[in-house]
Amino acid sequence: PNDWLFYFRGIPFMHQIYNTESLEKLEDFEVMDDDVFITTYPKSGTTWMQVLLSLVYVEGDESRVKDINNFDRAPWLEAMMNDVLNRKRPRLISSHLPFNLQPRMLREGKGKVIHVLRNPKDTLVSFYHFHKLTKFLESPSDFQTFIEQFIDAKVFIGSWFNHVRGWYENTHPNILHVTYEDMTNDLDDVIKKVCEFLGKSLTNQQVESVKHHSSFNVMRDNPKTNHSKVEIFDFEKGTFIRKGKVGDWKDYFTVAQSERFDDVYHESMVGLDLDFIWD
Ligand code: PPS
Repeated sequence: PNDWLFYFRGIPFMHQIYNTESLEKLEDFEVMDDDVFITTYPKSGTTWMQVLLSLVYVEGDESRVKDINNFDRAPWLEAMMNDVLNRKRPRLISSHLPFNLQPRMLREGKGKVIHVLRNPKDTLVSFYHFHKLTKFLESPSDFQTFIEQFIDAKVFIGSWFNHVRGWYENTHPNILHVTYEDMTNDLDDVIKKVCEFLGKSLTNQQVESVKHHSSFNVMRDNPKTNHSKVEIFDFEKGTFIRKGKVGDWKDYFTVAQSERFDDVYHESMVGLDLDFIWD
């Protein structure tokens, strides 16, 4: 759609971070049984889950997130292969790729996947700000234009609708779906489910530490979790940890825009057993 992006198998990627050759190689990436992948469409709660899981793995030991930044704790599969390969096991690996571009071994069921998703209107609003914040993405001229770009998949990583559909329809046997809204409304329950899924057992005190160090304000103020040192962002345009609210979309969408979006949503997600909390 613009000079900042190139297409790989129909999906837009940023030139500055990704390349065709390494995306192609991912097909044969060797997945270990104890790998845990955090998979998301952008702006769905990736960083929050990275921090939460980082803490769960070390029973809430805060030094893990105070001393080590996100990229070193949970490197990106599609952009940081050397970091992924140098990681000690068990590896925590982040990925924005749709299901069909994931390594074959993952698609066949090896490793574990925590897929985080967020209601698409809040995702869209967060992504609108992210397109302004990121130096390598074209700043949307206005919100209306961005809604159409999002619906037309002319954004980094392409269609939200196809991405979510892909992760739901090709069910990996070892996948846990978690929503941003569940994390907001009942983080204790999410931590419990994540611990069960990973075979971890934490004391109440350890769970409190996980909750505290992954809370919005603490993550916003921690330089190792707030992305404030990441060079691809222009911090005159905003912050990465921005608002952290469910229902923020209501301050952006007009009634007409919301209805238009609902129509596309219902048409695109038909037959999928998905029920988001919208506010
Ligand atoms: S990215 O670029 O895809 O990795 O972005 P991602 O981390 O998936 O999403 C960023 C949004 O998550 C919000 N965020 C949080 N919300 C609540 N609690 C915590 N701890 C938290 N950490 C990050 C962040 O503010 C972005 O959402 P918006 O709506 O823009 O505030």
